[in-house]
Amino acid sequence: MADIGLVGLGTMGAALALNIAERGYDIAVHNRTVEKIGQFVDSAGELASRLTAAETPEALVASLSAPRSVILMVPAGAAVDATIDQLIPLLDKGDTLVDAGNADFNDTRRREAALAERGLNFIGMGVSGGEDGARHGPSIMVGGPEKSYAAIREIVEAIAADYQGSPCAAWLGPDGAGHFVKTVHNGIEYADMQMIAEVYGLLRDGEGKTPAETAPLFERWNEGKLRSYLIEITAEVLRAQDKTSGGPLLDVIRDSAGQKGTGRWTVIEALKLGQSASAIESAVAARSWSSMGEARAAGESRFGAAEKGTLSLDDGELEQALLAARIIAYGQGLALLQSASEHFDWSLDLGRVAEIWRAGCIIRSDLLDDISQAAREGLPHGLLTLAPAFADRMETAVPALRRVVLEGLRAGLPMPAMSSALAWFDTMRQSRGSADLIQGQRDFFGRHGFERTDNGLSDQHGPWAD
Ligand code: ATR
Repeated sequence: MADIGLVGLGTMGAALALNIAERGYDIAVHNRTVEKIGQFVDSAGELASRLTAAETPEALVASLSAPRSVILMVPAGAAVDATIDQLIPLLDKGDTLVDAGNADFNDTRRREAALAERGLNFIGMGVSGGEDGARHGPSIMVGGPEKSYAAIREIVEAIAADYQGSPCAAWLGPDGAGHFVKTVHNGIEYADMQMIAEVYGLLRDGEGKTPAETAPLFERWNEGKLRSYLIEITAEVLRAQDKTSGGPLLDVIRDSAGQKGTGRWTVIEALKLGQSASAIESAVAARSWSSMGEARAAGESRFGAAEKGTLSLDDGELEQALLAARIIAYGQGLALLQSASEHFDWSLDLGRVAEIWRAGCIIRSDLLDDISQAAREGLPHGLLTLAPAFADRMETAVPALRRVVLEGLRAGLPMPAMSSALAWFDTMRQSRGSADLIQGQRDFFGRHGFERTDNGLSDQHGPWAD
C-alpha cells in the first residue's frame, strides 16, 4: 500500500511526487489525462519502484493505506472542486485531502468546512519554491485542522527545505491560514521582484548600462545585506545571452509580466481587512501596466520617453535603497498577516512564518533570520520598521531610498513600488498627518463629523453645519 496519494501530474505535482518518493515514501499518482501517468512513472528512473500508477480515482484511493491522505496539485479554482467531488465518495471518515496548489484562502475555508461536515479533513498547504523547490525541498505553509496535520507531518517535513537542520514546513493555523500565508508570501515576492526590476530600469535607462554590465552589481549585492534568491537569479538573468540574436536575452523578452492572481488576492484581502500593503499593491499595478504595451507606446509617442543615460547613481546607495524598500515590503506583508490572524482568530506565529521562509521559497533571504527574531520579540505597533534591529537599518537606508527615488523621478523613470514604499515610510513617521483636512471635507459635504484634538469630543461639526 502507498503512504500517500497525489492527483495532478503537472510541473509542480510531478516534482512533488518525485520528492516524496526520493525521501523513501511510496506514493500513488493519478492524473486526469491518463497517458501522462504512465509517462511520468516511466521517466522516474529508479524512483519508479516507489510510484503506483493509478489510472482512476478509485484505483488511487484503493492503493492507499488508511487513514488515507491525498495531495491535490491541480490549478486553483474549479479544478480543485471537481477533483474533491470525485474523491469524496471514495473516502472514509478520518481521511485527509491536501490542496497543495495556490488556492484563494476563502475557497480553502469553504472547502475545509464542507469536508469537516462529512468527517473528512481538509488541509490547505502553500508550497513555495517553484519546480526546483517542489522537487528538492520547498517551503511549506500548512493550514487546516491541527490534529489532521499529524497524518501528513512526517512526509511534509521530510520533503521540505532544510534550514540548519530544521524543516521549512509548519502548521500555521486552522482552515485557510496556510494558503493565506502563501498568498502574502507571493505578494511580498511581487513587491521584491518589482523593486529589483525598478533598480534594473534605473541602471538600464537612467545610466545607460547593458544587462551584462549590471550583473556584477547584483552579484556583489548577493554577497551583502541583500543576499537572497531573487537577487541571485537576477544576476543570472542579466548575464544570459540569447542564442538567436547573439545579444542579451533580456533585450528580446517582451516587457509584459504575467500574473496568476496571488498578488491581486493579497491586495484584495489587505483592503478587505482595512489594511494597505502599498508596495505589493504597486507591484500588482505595475504588472498590469506592463501588459498594456500598445498604450505605453502611444504614451511615449505623445509625451516622449524619459531621456536616457542622464543618471549617475552610487552603487552603495542603490543597495541601501533596495534594502530599505525590501524591509518595508516584508513589513507590510507581516502587518497584513497579523491583521488577518486577529480577524480570523488564527493565532499566527509570525516568527515561525519568517523561519519557514528562510529556505526553499522564492523570497528566501538573509533578512529573514533577523525578521523572525524581531517577530519573536514582538513588533512595536505591529511594524517591522520599528523593531530595534530594523529601525537602526532604516535610519541609514531610508535616506538612500529617498535619494534614489528622487533621482529616478527627476529623470522621469517609473518607480511605483519603491516610491510607494517610501511614501508609506514617511506617512508612518508623521505623528500629525493631513487627514484633518479630509475629515473637514467629509464633514462639509456629508456631515460625517470629526473628533476634536483639544477636548477629545467626537461627532463635532464645522461652521458650515450651523
Ligand atoms: P503545469 O503545472 O504543468 O503548469 P497545470 O495546467 O497547472 O500544469 O495542471 C496541473 C495538473 O492539473 C495537470 O495534471 C492537469 O491535468 P491534465 O494533464 O489532464 O491537463 C490537472 N488539471 C487541470 N485541470 C483539471 C481539472 N479541471 N480537473 C482535474 N485535473 C485538472
